[in-house]
Amino acid sequence: TFEQSLRPQNLNQYIGQNKVKENLKVFIEAAKMRQETLDHVLLYGPPGLGKTTLATIIANEMGVNIRTTAGPAIERPGDLAAILTSLEPGDVLFVDEIHRLPRTIEEVLYPAMEDFCIDIVIGKGPTARSVRLDLPPFTLVGATTRAGSISAPLRDRFGVLARLEYYSEEQLTDIVIRTADILETKIDPHAANEIARRSRGTPRIANRLLRRVRDFAQVRSNGDIELKLATYALELLQIDRLGLDHIDHKLLKGIIERFRGGPVGLETIAASIGEESQTIEDVYEPYLLQIGYLQRTPRGRVVTEAVYRHFHMEVPTE
Ligand code: ADE
Repeated sequence: TFEQSLRPQNLNQYIGQNKVKENLKVFIEAAKMRQETLDHVLLYGPPGLGKTTLATIIANEMGVNIRTTAGPAIERPGDLAAILTSLEPGDVLFVDEIHRLPRTIEEVLYPAMEDFCIDIVIGKGPTARSVRLDLPPFTLVGATTRAGSISAPLRDRFGVLARLEYYSEEQLTDIVIRTADILETKIDPHAANEIARRSRGTPRIANRLLRRVRDFAQVRSNGDIELKLATYALELLQIDRLGLDHIDHKLLKGIIERFRGGPVGLETIAASIGEESQTIEDVYEPYLLQIGYLQRTPRGRVVTEAVYRHFHMEVPTE
């Protein structure tokens, strides 16, 4: 699809994550030199940083097919067996949200990862028997928002652990310029930088904001993205100078106004602002922690002085 063609197809087109990229280059080249299957790779880090893109690139660079599924989609051992037995030798199996794989499935996965075989039980009761199926060698690429949320035995079976980090403003600017080029939209580098600055270190957000700003440029201007147009559009999109959106605002202001800045437990905040605690923890918190707006303490979440300044509120003294 077109959406896919926006994504970089190989490691040289991929901007950022330099450490991960350089290491992967070596592991891929070594596996190819030895004509072996690439070792299993676990990609972890906040959403939108390019885990799916990297999985696709790994398959492209290895010259194999990619099969994509997600933890919650595999409910029974048979579901996993069906996927594994249909792979071609060397293929990449990408399992997104691997921390949501049911425990019973995880156990089927261990011998599959280690010895490329699975034991499946056929029949029920006294006539039930177990048969061992050999599998084609494959590379499991798992993705999760937090490495800590997958079990140790599963984590230990990945040969490559790659942590994705938030992108710098410069890297995001380059990504916005690259995407605008693919979209055949003229963009002033200062405008690209303004979008980058408000993208919370996240390419997915940068590319989404770019598309919305492009809509404004098309309808309210001549189609080119100038700095003034970009700033105007980002205001209307209610993305503040730091890229915080209305949910970030609700979260931070909620802690200040209802819990005097904290400490307050995650579940309590979630209930009070009507958001899922998982979404807060996986999507909103990581960036707020990274920029030092939120702190985790044993007694709960606390907002920092920077938040009061951001909202032009008086910093409490006591
Ligand atoms: N588009 C989204 N993420 C990207 C990246 N890391 N490099 C280049 N283009 C991208």
